[in-house]
Amino acid sequence: MKSYSIALIPGDGIGKSVTEAAWQVLEAAASSSGFALQGQHFPWSCAYYKETGRMMPEDAIETLRGFDAILLGAVGWPAEVPDAVSLHGLLLPIRKAFVQYANIRPHRLLPGVEGPLKAASFDILCIRENTEGEYSGAGGRVHQGTSDEVAVETSIFTRNGVERILRFGFEQARLRKRKLASVTKSNAQKYSMVFWDEVTARLAPEYPDVQVTSYHIDAMAARMVMAPDSLDVVVASNLFGDILTDLGAAIQGGLGFAASANINPDRSAPSMFEPVHGSAPDIAHLGIANPIAAIWSGAMMLGHLGEHGAAAKVMAAIEAATARGIGTRPGQDRTETITTAVLAALA
Ligand code: NAD
Ligand code: IPM
Ligand code: MN
Repeated sequence: MKSYSIALIPGDGIGKSVTEAAWQVLEAAASSSGFALQGQHFPWSCAYYKETGRMMPEDAIETLRGFDAILLGAVGWPAEVPDAVSLHGLLLPIRKAFVQYANIRPHRLLPGVEGPLKAASFDILCIRENTEGEYSGAGGRVHQGTSDEVAVETSIFTRNGVERILRFGFEQARLRKRKLASVTKSNAQKYSMVFWDEVTARLAPEYPDVQVTSYHIDAMAARMVMAPDSLDVVVASNLFGDILTDLGAAIQGGLGFAASANINPDRSAPSMFEPVHGSAPDIAHLGIANPIAAIWSGAMMLGHLGEHGAAAKVMAAIEAATARGIGTRPGQDRTETITTAVLAALA
């Protein structure tokens, strides 16, 4: 029987319960589809940091490299470990080391979910550059703590980095409605974002079948609320994509619905699948985290592994549960209730 090795990194807070939920559903989908998932748990998290002084071991990247995919919950417990330490110690280095440069985040309303907008239907695929830009980690602080203090955070945009994420967006658009929105802030950021706009314009003639429009990030934020149905594929830089995808989560009913895939398109290293949301410390002990985002991310993982039938089964099971009104409003159902409903629909 075909078998895939999956590294499980539940992480912190609700990351643990939603990963557990997703894993149950994925195992059920695998066994009914004739393949196996071999999961190996890694306890890397803020609790692990408190014990060991590291978010993950020194050889973690080499350990993960051997897996077919990574399923991650959420990282961060700011009351105990500063976010800049935990995220730069675990999540962000994996995205970079494995060149997971395309972060794919779908935003649409599941059946039975009433979003906050009047628009009854939209289907947006946000594609976020995931390895450079505003998250390059270049910068520093001088005269710290004095009135002369200066903090610099340099965004690094390379031709290779910008070109490959835009090409990825064009290719995705070809699989959908052939509309690509390229998002920048080139009216204010005169180097990096003008460069991004130029690369977009230069690539466009290679994809004459795709309709390309450049938007400013502020206007795009408004458009996602006012006219989300006018959008298809939206490509943005690391930080802009981060912000737009929490907005996308909001219009699809909440962070509990927003799935995400950190893809290495060349398949030179494993890809990583995780919900858009974080560890949600405010609800972490209540048992009410919505696991749908994590389960949907798991479905994206199955698709990436080539198990399209199983991926479709998981999506159909999620939709059957929400169509019955299960898990459609934040806090309404317990994590367990939603997971059981998805498992029942799968069976
Ligand atoms: P968050 O996404 O954890 O929570 C924002 C709000 O959404 C909270 O009110 C939370 O209760 C709610 N929410 C999130 N997921 C939910 C779910 N599945 N079901 C129901 N409600 C849900 O964002 P935050 O509070 O800014 O961050 C908390 C921690 O998580 C921080 O340490 C942050 O850095 C980290 N974080 C990690 C990731 C990641 O690992 N990918 C993503 C975002 C934030
Ligand atoms: C996300 C998260 C991370 C990001 C944080 C936790 C570093 O917000 O995956 O959207 O900004 O990439
Ligand atoms: Mn985010």
